Amino acid sequence: MNTYELIIKKRNGGELSEREIAYLVDGFVRGDIPDYQMSSFLMATYFMGMTEKETLYLTQEMIKSGDTLDLSAISGIKADKHSTGGVGDKTSLILCPMLAAAGIKVAKMSGRGLGHTGGTIDKLESFPGLTTVIDGERFIRQANEVGFVIAGQTAHLVPADKKLYALRDVTGTVDIMPLIVSSIMSKKLASGADVIVLDVKTGSGAFMKKEEDSFELARQMVALGKNSGRKTVAVVSDMDEPLGFAVGNALEVKEAITVLNGENVGNLRELCLTLGVCTLMEANMAESETEARKILEKGIEDGSALKKLAEFVKAQGGDERAVYDTSLLPSAPLKVDLKSPVSGYVSMLQADGVGRACIALGGGRETKDSKIDLSVGVVLNKKNGDYVNLNEPLATIHASDAERAEEAGKLLLECYKFSETAPERAPFIKGIVR
Ligand code: URA
Repeated sequence: MNTYELIIKKRNGGELSEREIAYLVDGFVRGDIPDYQMSSFLMATYFMGMTEKETLYLTQEMIKSGDTLDLSAISGIKADKHSTGGVGDKTSLILCPMLAAAGIKVAKMSGRGLGHTGGTIDKLESFPGLTTVIDGERFIRQANEVGFVIAGQTAHLVPADKKLYALRDVTGTVDIMPLIVSSIMSKKLASGADVIVLDVKTGSGAFMKKEEDSFELARQMVALGKNSGRKTVAVVSDMDEPLGFAVGNALEVKEAITVLNGENVGNLRELCLTLGVCTLMEANMAESETEARKILEKGIEDGSALKKLAEFVKAQGGDERAVYDTSLLPSAPLKVDLKSPVSGYVSMLQADGVGRACIALGGGRETKDSKIDLSVGVVLNKKNGDYVNLNEPLATIHASDAERAEEAGKLLLECYKFSETAPERAPFIKGIVR
């Protein structure tokens, strides 16, 4: 067996065996297979795809490349949540404390933002002093004591994904279904939770732009999770426009706190409740969806979910006062309104473009080593379907200086399209895959 033959086999549409996939993953992680050969294999996969069997083998070999977490020392049911990535996506900051308040243990590894999408670890670092470098013993203790813990991905968990993802990111091979399935599910399965809840995005700001592809991604991930003995459920939701109104790290933390304070922020609360209901049902912690929803809503109404967030921030070394006084979070020195050039309805607000405007402000990463400004971003005043008058603010740009604000303003304006009549609104939650 050699790498060249396997590239040709995939290029010609062949199905690789378990041994052949193990050879590729092993060889790449050890450094025996160079990046140029693996890139070629990845591109062949873009054109020829993988069968479900190949995807399963790839996922299993990726898991074997590193450590797996043993969560058996955490009492009760352990849940993990993963989003396929989007713009303004702060659901973990809301859902994890809601679940912890409902009695589910959430032990979660998260990533940083890359490209136009944000990452939970960056957002959490908006809390002064908070660390996401948590060793194994502390991880287990905090899950038991607080009910939830979020750590950065360690180098030892699925190192194959770390190496493969870095290569995919620069070779135009990120948006390939079997590679996304194996990347996400290898990390989730290695992380050891009993219940896996997947937040699958669809639309311009998502990796999967078409709804049918997002459902297929959800179906494949759920099947793989279940075949591996985990309770797995996926919610497919809209990412054509950003989630909520805030895009940018500290701004998103503030918005998440607003939801935990009981406010209804766009579709954000609804998405968190839907993901939460699915988790409670899979965990057999409610008799019905109505009961599950009531449990979660009570956690918001009586303040216990917000209290969980404060306990979590403190346990991870952060200043928990910022949960109750958001002026303690980073704040940009300049706030500039982006005025509407027309009167009319917003007929489109392209999520990926809003993410790129945020990068232009310094709030996102161009490369994985870029340093980011946690304070900057955008608060959208008008979204799809809203009516706006000429010169009324479409959005408020939070910037470090006028030059960056101007550049972001130009990018942001390109994300908006207008119409004279109200556009049709598509449902926000597209469906649930069980
Ligand atoms: N998120 C991941 O973790 N991996 C992918 O391939 C895409 C999104």
